[in-house]
Amino acid sequence: MQKLVIDGGKPLQGETVIQTAKNAALPIIAACILTDEAVVIENCPKLKDIDAMLDIVKHLGCKAEFNGNDLTVCCRDIELNVINSDLTGKLRSSIFIMGSILSRCRKAYISHPGGCEIGLRPIDLHISGLKGLSVKIMDDCGVICCDGSEMKSNIINLDFASVGATENLMMAGALLEGETVIVNAAREPEIVDLAEFINAMGGKVSGAGGSVISVVGVKKLHGCRYRPIPDRICAGTVLAAVAATGGDVTIKNVVPEHIFGVTERLKKTGSRLAVHGDSMRITMTNRPKPLHKLETNVYPAFPTDMQPQFCAFLTRATGSSVIVENLFESRFGYTSELVKMGANITVKDRIAVVNGVPSLHGASLRASDLRGGAALVIAALAAEGRSAVFGTEHIDRGYENIERTFGELAATIHRVQI
Ligand code: EPZ
Repeated sequence: MQKLVIDGGKPLQGETVIQTAKNAALPIIAACILTDEAVVIENCPKLKDIDAMLDIVKHLGCKAEFNGNDLTVCCRDIELNVINSDLTGKLRSSIFIMGSILSRCRKAYISHPGGCEIGLRPIDLHISGLKGLSVKIMDDCGVICCDGSEMKSNIINLDFASVGATENLMMAGALLEGETVIVNAAREPEIVDLAEFINAMGGKVSGAGGSVISVVGVKKLHGCRYRPIPDRICAGTVLAAVAATGGDVTIKNVVPEHIFGVTERLKKTGSRLAVHGDSMRITMTNRPKPLHKLETNVYPAFPTDMQPQFCAFLTRATGSSVIVENLFESRFGYTSELVKMGANITVKDRIAVVNGVPSLHGASLRASDLRGGAALVIAALAAEGRSAVFGTEHIDRGYENIERTFGELAATIHRVQI
């Protein structure tokens, strides 16, 4: 067990390089199953979620190893083992490996996925989408058994622009004769990255980034070398931390248009931002201004994965903010920990009202999910005095070395074994 010990109340200063995107690397690793040739994923982040996904592909017979920061995955032969709950329980994104296994083997056996406790997180859109491709699916005591022997391409209309379901269907169609069209597809940058990766392997995916994606199946895909996009949520997390503590920070390895929904709202709270190519500088000298209403929604709207981090700094705003969480039904669990620090927050269903206070004080805090944990770190960096953040295993799922990131920015933060 570990905890982060943070002495807060100091402005962040300096510069830091943003890691490669977890939510781009995960589907790309799953898509390596689509070829029997070696794939090199450059600058792959070293995270618990990445390890969990690698455990799954290795369970299927793939070889995977890091050489420095580059990850080589080779799925020359696939063993159709049941992907049991020990493997799928650790992460939500295990579910979209179904599409790549079906594409390659026309059969798949996988237990229900796990992931952050931020809502029910059903998989009905994944199941209905694959059934739309004539995959026969039955649930045998918690194992989803898929028979794709009669799979055929089709037009699939998603009731909701689900990121994972879009990725599942893109991979399911990649080696499927004919054209698979996904209508009401998710538009996140990670979807575009997956499309570009499949095309780098010789695939024919078009329309990614829009609401209609076309996947023309090919007979074979070849290996490639690919560098996924920077992590827009890690970038936003550092920016939100500066909004909380004040200071002057430059983040490197960022795609500004990927976080436009975040930076536009940061400016409204009083942060000053300047873009220089793939770097961005943020300065903040006062307490944040409140946001009358902050609503999460699908890309390119304000991302749900940045909701906890914004709440953390809005606790010190010069007025009241209303946060509406439209994607997940229980993503405010972390707020009870912020209240321990003196925050004034009221939560009802999917709405949080944050009445800004002049300052927070340090406390003993427990993270219970990935982005909620990041919010606690941000609040601790801004609070007067010392805080301890337990539950680092949640934070390490998505942040490569959060204490190094903020330590580089003059924060007093250490990881302690307990
Ligand atoms: C991806 O999860 C991300 N994870 C999440 O990031 C992110 O919060 C989410 O997209 C939304 O942007 C990865 O990419 C690995 P969805 P995913 O399917 O694919 C409902 C993080 O912190 N839904 O777009 O699971 C669902 O309940 C994580 O990095 C169904 O109803 O998200 C939710 O309300 C957390 N049925 C909404 O759609 C389904 O079959 C969004 O889910 C699937 C989803």
